[in-house]
Amino acid sequence: MKIDVVTIFPNLIDSYVGESIIKRAMSDGKIEINVINLRHYTDLKHHQVDDTVYGGGAGMLLMFPPFHRVLKERMKENTKVILPSPKGKKLTQEKLKELASEEHLIVLCGHYEGIDARIEHFVDEEISVGDYILTGGELPALILIDGLTRLTEGVLSEKSHEEESFTEGLLEYPQYTKPQEYEGFTVPEVLVSGNHEKISKWRKYIALKETYLKRPDLLKTKDLTLEEKELLEIIKKEKD
Ligand SMILES: C[S@@+](CC[C@H](N)C(=O)[O-])C[C@H]1O[C@@H](n2cnc3c(N)ncnc32)[C@H](O)[C@@H]1O
Repeated sequence: MKIDVVTIFPNLIDSYVGESIIKRAMSDGKIEINVINLRHYTDLKHHQVDDTVYGGGAGMLLMFPPFHRVLKERMKENTKVILPSPKGKKLTQEKLKELASEEHLIVLCGHYEGIDARIEHFVDEEISVGDYILTGGELPALILIDGLTRLTEGVLSEKSHEEESFTEGLLEYPQYTKPQEYEGFTVPEVLVSGNHEKISKWRKYIALKETYLKRPDLLKTKDLTLEEKELLEIIKKEKD
């Protein structure tokens, strides 16, 4: 997958993708990320890319022409253009999975008051990272890059995906690492029992419990197995 990010703050993107799993995925050729400085696409003095809003109003708006030039240069037949925006559909793991099958994304980062509305003629999808307002589209772009990189084949083991929150419509079970005991804080006994069947059953139970207590809305859309239904009844009784 190739992701082009168009921004007036390229360093913000570079510094994040230059570390850890994303850096490795890039150097292994699993994902290509190009950071495009919008200021290189303006013909105005001082690399100006923003101006005041027609009709009045507070703040500055990023201009249409520099974005248009980037798009004309980089858009191909298989390109999907994404606009991070609080007006967009809320990002979910399902949406990430859908986007992960795309070959080429261009992510347009707004800033200040956003981008001149003529950009809508080129946008395939507006995506929101939640019902709140950020200063720019860089964090949402990084959220997309991060979530999509993890889903790219060969970046993580299959097992990591299988057991993650949301994958099976449930939150993930809690996990622990060494030491087994620290100042009286202990790891659940079952996890050090060596009994894999017991561990698997406990994880199923505790994942259901976490979901029931923290995100009961997820259970409304999940098709529960008979075993899960029985476990859920136990959990409900325990709570009462
Ligand atoms: C200050 S916001 C502009 C908000 C816009 N004036 C409005 O009220 O809808 C600047 C930029 O940050 C990004 N942004 C802010 N909040 C966001 C959110 N919740 N999801 C995705 N992008 C967001 C968008 O790229 C937006 O163009």
